[in-house]
Amino acid sequence: QGKYTVTMIEGDGIGVEISAAVKDIYAAAKVPIIWEAVDVTPILKDGKTAIPDAAINSVKRNLVALKGPLATPIGKGHVSLNLTLRRTFNLFANLRPCRSVVGYKTPYDNVDTVLIRENTEGEYSGIEHVVVEGVVQSIKLITRPACERVIRYAFQHARATGKPKVLVVHKATIMKMSDGLFLSTAKKIAKEYPDIELGAELLDNTCLKIVTDPEPYKPVVMVMPNLYGDILSDMCSGLIGGLGLTPSGNMGDEVSIFEAVHGSAPDIAGKGLANPTALLLSSVMMLRHMKLNDYADKIENAVLKTIASGPENITRDLKGTAGTKHFTEQIIRRL
Ligand code: IPM
Ligand code: MN
Repeated sequence: QGKYTVTMIEGDGIGVEISAAVKDIYAAAKVPIIWEAVDVTPILKDGKTAIPDAAINSVKRNLVALKGPLATPIGKGHVSLNLTLRRTFNLFANLRPCRSVVGYKTPYDNVDTVLIRENTEGEYSGIEHVVVEGVVQSIKLITRPACERVIRYAFQHARATGKPKVLVVHKATIMKMSDGLFLSTAKKIAKEYPDIELGAELLDNTCLKIVTDPEPYKPVVMVMPNLYGDILSDMCSGLIGGLGLTPSGNMGDEVSIFEAVHGSAPDIAGKGLANPTALLLSSVMMLRHMKLNDYADKIENAVLKTIASGPENITRDLKGTAGTKHFTEQIIRRL
């Protein structure tokens, strides 16, 4: 069997440890992947944060990358490296599923949500200025082409995963123009997908309804502008136990970068305490994207079984007592 080369962006802080856990588990599972580690320490190009060429070329060559947490460098001119990566590779759809982890108890035991966040513009466009002292503008830029591609992605995802409905989450009652364009674009695109129902819901109402009962959101693919997706995806993550358990994928037409959404946790970095689950489950999404489904199932099952196996085998953030190494070994035993 041939091997695939995948770019690995280990990330900062606990990134090194959780990436090592992924590599160990992949080696034990004999996944046909060769990791190509790249350094993304940013450079400033024309006054803007940029990714070094070697890293860009690696991602362009391999088309798939796995990414740990990146701390934003402090220093004049730098914007978040996470955002720079999304923009550099035109990763327009951020796919964030949340499914209850059997064996990790929360007040909700049946969560199965899928959220797709527009990933390149909206409130994250980075266009801000001072009008006069004490008066500022942060522009929420929305363009029809960006709405079209992310909404089309949502319909395609619904179709591919057998979900009957796409739900636009918006606030067009207030953001009449920007969210209005998002919503009207969805109505137009929906005509291309007669087999999928289109629904629309106000963001505040969605928050209220999901925390009250997530069940009705199971047959639904939610799609929304950037900032709403950032906030609502953390909320969904909270339903199942937090960012330590939730995967994500930044999807473009060519390149995809799968990433753990949590931070670099400098307080526990280097201490062998980090939980690699979010990165592992992101890598499972990556394997499915690469059509390596058997390996994906094998690794996902081993991770979930380990989490269900008791506090002595799981990390402290999950109220367990194990370190990264022990947790990793327990996963490998269950492959
Ligand atoms: C996320 C993160 C990022 C975002 C930060 C790190 C820039 O919170 O991926 O959700 O706001 O998109
Ligand atoms: Mn976020």
